Amino acid sequence: MIDLRRHNANFCAEHFLEQCRRQVSKAIDRFEMIAQGERVLVAVSGGKDSLAVWDLLVDLGFRADGLYVGLGIGDYSDTSGHHARAFAAERGLTLLEVDIPETYGYDIPDGSRAARRAPCSACGLSKRHLFDRAALEHGYDVLVTGHNLDDEAAVLFGNTLHWHTEYLGRQLPVLPARDGFPRKVKPLVRLTERETAAYCVLRGIDYLVDECPMAAGNRHLAYKEALNDIERRSPGAKHSFYFGFLDRAAHRFAPDAEADRTELVPCSRCGAPTTAEVCAFCRLVDRAGGHLPEAGSPGATPVELGATRRSRREASVGGGR
Ligand code: AMP
Ligand code: FES
Ligand code: ZN
Repeated sequence: MIDLRRHNANFCAEHFLEQCRRQVSKAIDRFEMIAQGERVLVAVSGGKDSLAVWDLLVDLGFRADGLYVGLGIGDYSDTSGHHARAFAAERGLTLLEVDIPETYGYDIPDGSRAARRAPCSACGLSKRHLFDRAALEHGYDVLVTGHNLDDEAAVLFGNTLHWHTEYLGRQLPVLPARDGFPRKVKPLVRLTERETAAYCVLRGIDYLVDECPMAAGNRHLAYKEALNDIERRSPGAKHSFYFGFLDRAAHRFAPDAEADRTELVPCSRCGAPTTAEVCAFCRLVDRAGGHLPEAGSPGATPVELGATRRSRREASVGGGR
């Protein structure tokens, strides 16, 4: 029996799985995330959320492949890659892989030190660039990440504490395709971390339980803990904070987000949209002592770009999570 206090309900295993599917379908429909027949690329880390969302999408009838990015974070990356590969192999699903050390010649721990960036910031920038690139290069209609309600509520909490109004204006579960970026969606926004973990256990999904060792003690985790504390005293608070924001406040910040957008040009090295001559990712690769892929290898071709406006934050440090 699974007890979900925020829904004031108990579920048996079968009904709990049904409830997860319903919540994901509802998010996809309500925010027009994915249309049937579209080609979907799911960014999978080997953790519970991304494997759960991949499983749920396949179950709901979507054509979804996976993308795993090897970050070079020692044992953590070895194990996470193993979980992603095993999941795909057991189900006969396609998993694309980009290994940063192998293809770009740096890893997140050393590279972020050399580039004088916080590991999570170098990691986030690298992942976003490689997700966008893989989705465009391989012709996917939409890129899916496993961000759940806890993640989104914690980001919202941080953005509200610091009144980052331009980020609030674009903290949405769907970012439409534009500016040479693929559409990006978060179908798990109606499920909590505890729910995606229970989903994996019930579906027999073997996920990596450990959190990334480089993230320990970061602010995002502190916000999650604070919200969990509030949720314990007031079940449903997280949901009403995040969905109340989407329904009643997000649109008020849209002008701030729009004002923050700047003209973009293709990066002279890799073709990604940027405000500078060389994009933030290529600059990170340089400073981290890495290199761009050898000519002829996957990832070596500059990506074709569409229109040219995106946010300053995305251009400099990569936008959102
Ligand atoms: P995080 O930023 O680590 O909380 O991860 C958020 C989402 O990004 C996950 O749910 C995945 O969809 C995706 N993701 C994180 N790490 C990786 C990775 N190494 N390879 C592919 N996708 C990832
Ligand atoms: Fe990126 Fe940990 S997963 S720094
Ligand atoms: Zn570039």
